[in-house]
Amino acid sequence: MSTSVDRFDERARRTVERVGQTVVHRGELLRHPVYTRVLHWLVAIAFILALLTGFAIYSPWTYRFLAPLFGGGPRTRLLHPWFGLFFTIFFFFQFLNWFTPMIWNKDDTRWMKRIKQYSTNEEKVEPESVGFFNGGQKLYFWAIVISAVLFLITGILMWFDNLTGRWVVAVSYVIHDIAGLIMLAGFIIHIYEGTAAQPGTFRAMTNGTVTERWAWTHHPGWYRAVTGRDPRESYEREQRRMADRERAMEEWDRDQDARDQA
Ligand code: HEM
Repeated sequence: MSTSVDRFDERARRTVERVGQTVVHRGELLRHPVYTRVLHWLVAIAFILALLTGFAIYSPWTYRFLAPLFGGGPRTRLLHPWFGLFFTIFFFFQFLNWFTPMIWNKDDTRWMKRIKQYSTNEEKVEPESVGFFNGGQKLYFWAIVISAVLFLITGILMWFDNLTGRWVVAVSYVIHDIAGLIMLAGFIIHIYEGTAAQPGTFRAMTNGTVTERWAWTHHPGWYRAVTGRDPRESYEREQRRMADRERAMEEWDRDQDARDQA
């Protein structure tokens, strides 16, 4: 696929990489380069603005505190389609950027079958079949792709409602809201997974790096691909190191107690 859009994407990637920088320290791995991070946060800002203005339009009374933030009801209505448009444009470039690592495979279907064990943190490390993204992350990505297409089509139909029939607008409203709710549900889970549920993940989208420990725990297949090392062996070595450290500290404590008593 070598279209002019692709070439533009490649140029943008190179330009942004020249402006920004990612520092990778010892024991860390590069997870997301500057271009990916810039796109991610542009998508996130546009999405949140579209969401807030969307809420204010959907239920002006319930969300009456929102419209004043955007300069009142009419201006909120005016801004909403623009935020939505920026969201789909930025996400389109993220789509090009992530298309390859987001391709669904048999391992992802297997991952989905054990989603309960994953969400309850039953296993300390993920199976080695988990590569750069796991099945849940890919599902979220494809849910956004489908919702964003529906969002764009129905949004345009509602934006230019004088050119479309009344029933077209009515159906568009329903589809637009359903797509919005799907993305909202995914967004809430996404924030939880990207912060509290998995400490050490958020920095992947700020610094651009993660610790090796994070990599062999959550994405062992990717860890092996970039380091050439066995993730299970690295995990067990780390466990042994921690146990040795604990033993050394206990010994030191005992020595101190014995010295105090002498
Ligand atoms: C504002 C709060 C947000 C936070 C804290 C956040 C955090 C993150 C983090 C840390 C990652 C990297 C995960 C990894 O490398 O494994 C990520 C990836 C991603 N983000 Fe966000 N994000 C936010 C908003 C959004 C929004 C609004 C969207 C789109 C509507 C979005 C779409 C994605 C996608 C598709 C990925 C890749 C797949 C995944 O990791 O789930 N993010 N995000």
